[in-house]
Amino acid sequence: MQALDILKESALRSIESATDTTALRDIEIAYLGRSGKVTSILRGVKDLSPDQRKHIGREANLLRSVLEDVIAEKRRVLNKQEHAERLGKERIDITQPGVKMPRGGLHPLTIIRRDIERIFSSLGFTIAVGQEVETEHYNFDALNIPADHPARDMWDTFWIKQKKDEGQRAEKERLLLRTHTSPVQVRYLEAHQPPFRIIVPGRAFRYEATDASHEIQLYQLEGLMVGEDVSLGHFKYIITTFLSELFQKEVTIRLRPSYFPFVEPGVEVDMSCVICGGKKGCSVCKRTGWVEILGAGMVHPYVFKAAGLNPKYWQGFAFGMGIDRVAMMKYHIPDIRFFHAGDERFLKQF
Ligand code: FA5
Repeated sequence: MQALDILKESALRSIESATDTTALRDIEIAYLGRSGKVTSILRGVKDLSPDQRKHIGREANLLRSVLEDVIAEKRRVLNKQEHAERLGKERIDITQPGVKMPRGGLHPLTIIRRDIERIFSSLGFTIAVGQEVETEHYNFDALNIPADHPARDMWDTFWIKQKKDEGQRAEKERLLLRTHTSPVQVRYLEAHQPPFRIIVPGRAFRYEATDASHEIQLYQLEGLMVGEDVSLGHFKYIITTFLSELFQKEVTIRLRPSYFPFVEPGVEVDMSCVICGGKKGCSVCKRTGWVEILGAGMVHPYVFKAAGLNPKYWQGFAFGMGIDRVAMMKYHIPDIRFFHAGDERFLKQF
């Protein structure tokens, strides 16, 4: 009993003198922990004589509950004290700017596509879309490029693997990743009655080696204007207006004869180099002052027929422009592969 009294005295003194919650926790363990002093006494009670057991057992249990209460109270006081101390030290300056959340931005190709769409909309064009997985029919045949036509070599193609019976139903149903946006010309002509003017921005795919100006995945802008008296003159006006607006500069163009099976006549369009001002002085225009920007021409009668329209009544122009190439010119990007390299240092500049 005397030992219990001494233990109580010393425990209360220690608790009283504890200056923080860590020290208090140590004291709690020393007395009430699994091998603490009070716990050891309680464990030894069973070895005492029945008389002592009852007496000492009760006193030791009482001591434990007193100490638990005193420790809980002390802990409350110390917690409060520590909290107040912490608040005293911490300062919140509400005039400081907050932590900036990282913000994404638009991809340069998205920015330029939106610019292009805005300009063509102001010229009365509507925006049409097509599908990236196309049939051989729409990508080639309906565009006057039959299977044995040498012009097919102009478009190295990713063919889609199909199960045996698929695609065998008809040659025309073989699937591929479209090599240009021109199939949308035929799909749109089939579904709409002219006159109309549309643009079709979208992805195309080519199975070819990449370099600074070639990617296997590229973006194109198809344009198609059909009416009873649409001419190459309209095309020249529209494209010059568009380029001058996009580059915010006076741009001149020149047309060179070219060949695409789905137009007649076909032209290649060069624009005056906006980087050296057409003064024959930079690598982008290879010191010619001109940069090739798109293919175009008057819609071939075959294409009208393939879409179920009579070429006697309708005529129009079509063009296909590389959006990546235009973006390279506008933002002075020397390599097309930057667009999809996923390098934030590049992307953050836009
Ligand atoms: C065509 O794809 C035709 N469909 C364009 C056309 C449409 C002509 C309507 C007449 C009437 P071409 O293969 O030249 O044509 O591609 C058109 C443009 O796409 C090129 O001028 C170029 O700017 C871009 N381009 C072509 N291949 C790549 C490539 N691998 N990487 C990036 N841009 C490309």
